Order: sequence, then C-alpha cells, then structure tokens
Amino acid sequence: MAENKGKLWAGRFSEENDRATDDFNSSLSFDKRLYPYDITGSVAHVTMLGEQGLIPGEDAKAAVEALQKLLEEIGEDPKLLDGDYEDIHMAVEAIITERIGNPGQRIHTGRSRNDQVALDMKMYVIDTCDKIISLLKTLIKTLLEKAKSHTETIMPGYTHIQKAQAVSYAHYLCAYCEMFTRDIGRLKDTAKRCDEMPLGTGALAATTLPLNRERVAELLGFSAISRNSLDAVSDRDHCIEFLSAASVIMMHLSRFCEEIIWWASEEYSYIKVTDAYSTGSSMMPQKRNPDVAELIRGKTGRVYGDLLTLLTVMKGIPLAYNKDMQEDKQAVFDAADTLEKCISIFTGMIAAVEVNTPKMKKAVEESYMDATEAAEFLVSKGCPFRRAHFIIGKLVGICEQRGIWLRELPEQELKDAVGEYYSTDFRQALNAEANMEKKTIPASPSKAQVEGYIEYMEKFICGEF
Ligand code: ARG
Repeated sequence: MAENKGKLWAGRFSEENDRATDDFNSSLSFDKRLYPYDITGSVAHVTMLGEQGLIPGEDAKAAVEALQKLLEEIGEDPKLLDGDYEDIHMAVEAIITERIGNPGQRIHTGRSRNDQVALDMKMYVIDTCDKIISLLKTLIKTLLEKAKSHTETIMPGYTHIQKAQAVSYAHYLCAYCEMFTRDIGRLKDTAKRCDEMPLGTGALAATTLPLNRERVAELLGFSAISRNSLDAVSDRDHCIEFLSAASVIMMHLSRFCEEIIWWASEEYSYIKVTDAYSTGSSMMPQKRNPDVAELIRGKTGRVYGDLLTLLTVMKGIPLAYNKDMQEDKQAVFDAADTLEKCISIFTGMIAAVEVNTPKMKKAVEESYMDATEAAEFLVSKGCPFRRAHFIIGKLVGICEQRGIWLRELPEQELKDAVGEYYSTDFRQALNAEANMEKKTIPASPSKAQVEGYIEYMEKFICGEF
C-alpha cells in the first residue's frame, strides 16, 4: 500500500499522489510566513487541551515545549520548514510529531486546518494592520514637519488642472494627512473585526470534545470568539477588508505621486525630487526621472489586482471551507509587502523633496486666481454675489485681451467697473497672501488655521484621541 509519505491525511488513501498534483496543492512555499501565528495558535490550543484533560498533562507540556523550541529555531533557520509538506499547518505538526512522537500526535485534537488557517490569517491581518498604521503615522508626522515650515508658502490650488485659488504648500500637505488618517481608521476597523477567535470551530461543525474556546481566545489575546462554526471557517472578509483598505491607501499615494511627477517637471518646477529618489536615462544624458513616484503609482494597479483576485475567488464559494480559499494568501501577502515598501520609500522621498518657493509664488501671481476673492470683496461691500461674479468675470476678460493681470488694471477702470461697491482698499483683494490670511473659518488655508490643524494632528499621532 502506498504511504503518501508525510501526509497527515494518508489513512484513507491507497495510491500515491501525483508529484505535480502535490506541488500544485501545496501552499507551504508562501504560507510558511504564517509560522509564528500557527505555532502560537497551537501552543494555546494544546495548553487548553491539557487544562481540559483532553490530553495528558505531560503530553501537553512536552508539545508546548517542542512548539516553543521550534518557533525559536525557525526564527534562526527558516530552512527548517523546507520539507515536502502540504502547508504550514502540516509542516509544524509533522516536525513536532517526528521530534516528540506520541504527544505530537495529540496536537490536532478537536481542530482542523480550516479553523487553524482562519486563525493564522486573522492574526496576520491584525499584525499587518498595526505595522501599516505605524508606517502611516510616520508618514503623517513627516508631512506635518514639512508643513510647519511652509505655512506661508503660497502656491496655486487647482480644479480641472486649471489654476483655481491660492493655497499654501502646508495646506496642500495637510490634505494628504487627512487621507492617511482615514486610512488609519479603516485599518483599525479591519483589525477590530478580526478580533474573533475561530479555533474550536473545526472543519465546519465544531467538535464533540469539550474545548474551552474562551480560554484559547484569552491565551491568544482575542477579546471574543466566533459565533458560528460554518461562518468562522469560510469567512475571508477580514482579508478583503484589508485589501480594500490597502487599495485606498495606494490610491492616495498614487494621487500624491501623480502631483509630484507633474510638479517636478521642467514646466512646473514647483518641487525637486532629490537625487537619492531620482533616476537617469540610459540614452539621454540630461534626464532626471521621478521613477520612484511612477513605480508607486504603478504598484497601485497591482494592489487593486490583489483585491480583485480575492473578491473574485470568494464570490461563488459555497459554505464552508473550499480549497479556493488557499488563494487568499498570496494576494494578502503581496499587498502587505507592496504597501509596506511603498509607504516607507514614499516617506523618505517626500521628506527630501525640495520646494521652489519663488516658482510657486510666481505661478500664483501670473494668474487670475484672485478673481474669486475679488468678487467676495465686492460682496463684503454689499454687492450680490452673482453680480460680483459677473463684474469680475468681465474684468478678467478685458485683462486677458490686454495681456495683463487684474492687479495691473488702472485704478480708474477698476472704479468704473465696480461702481458703487468701489473702495480704496479694493487692491488688497488682489493680493494672494492677504486673501489667504482673511480665510479664518475652519479648514481654510490661512496660516492660523493650518497651524491649528498641525497642532491637532500631532495630538492625534501621539494617540491623544
Ligand atoms: N493550506 C490550506 C489553506 O490555506 C489550509 C486549509 C486546508 N484545509 C483543507 N481541508 N484542505 O487554505
């Protein structure tokens, strides 16, 4: 009779598996990164089995010791897992059984790989959310530091890529802080929903053995246990939630990168991406390309792909566990790795970006971006807004024809156009810096508002709320 060597489910089988099938079926090459969670989960499970008297106390002790030793050893030599095993769960059980015999044979009591893998992935997602949150906090801190020195750096704000109204570079950076703060919220939510311990739900229908599931949850630091065995083993919502949070983060980074790419161009020259984050051309000696920003923008597609992969994998799967679900791992791991790298490298790049303050200011001055504020000035003198809009619009048309800016219009012409709403301080409304400081309501780009925002965000980062 064929042995199906190394297979823990070999009992029912009389023929060896085809080699290619074995390889096809195996997830060890990628799920081995789950080993710390798998082993920690086993330690908790075996401890509980011993406490419940479901396995002899000395066997529980021997298994726990062997598991802890293996955990350390793999840390030092990951090659220990390079065997002919189907997945990380089989590998750990087989290695322990090989090392300690009988007690190892009891580890899987009242457990299935289905609830085991559900546990491992939840623990992985929780840890990954934590890791990404701390990277995002570092990024936000970096942006706030930069923002502090640019509260008076005036630059064009755009809509439809047309110059719209002036803002400050600090205000612009803080807009991204808001996005990354929402991202942190999404990751926290994801981790919160992972906080239900699935072990004990077995293959799909739990077990006749009197496990103490609350005890396992307590040992593993979960605050609750899953409430339905069918759902617990077939739920991958947390992976999908992580991937969608990851996709939104990448979308934010990608928008940021898009602007960096434009603004670093000779045509804009608002910023310079320093040498450490730029690359050259093999043919054109003069080139300095923002490859890093482009790559991050490109990798956004890859993370969206990971999300789409898992959404598609899960969409037609009947309850409960099906092997399709093994496909969750590479998507989640790839997104986690990509995200980690992109956020770290982006943080370095944005910290090093040099700002061309005069160029930004010139871009504001050489524009009609003061038109809205000029209309608002007339409103402050009692003019109905629609009328003010029309008056200033007309003036912009005249200026455009003559090739001058609003502030260059002769006083008399201004007076004639504005009529009863004219006052000698009208020219003040044509000064971008002064206009920005007049914006005192919350969320505005004025120095005072932005400084208040930075202070608020620093408290958020320090965990004050
Ligand atoms: N390697 C599997 C996975 O990642 C573990 C669960 C396998 N369960 C099973 N009944 N074949 O999904």
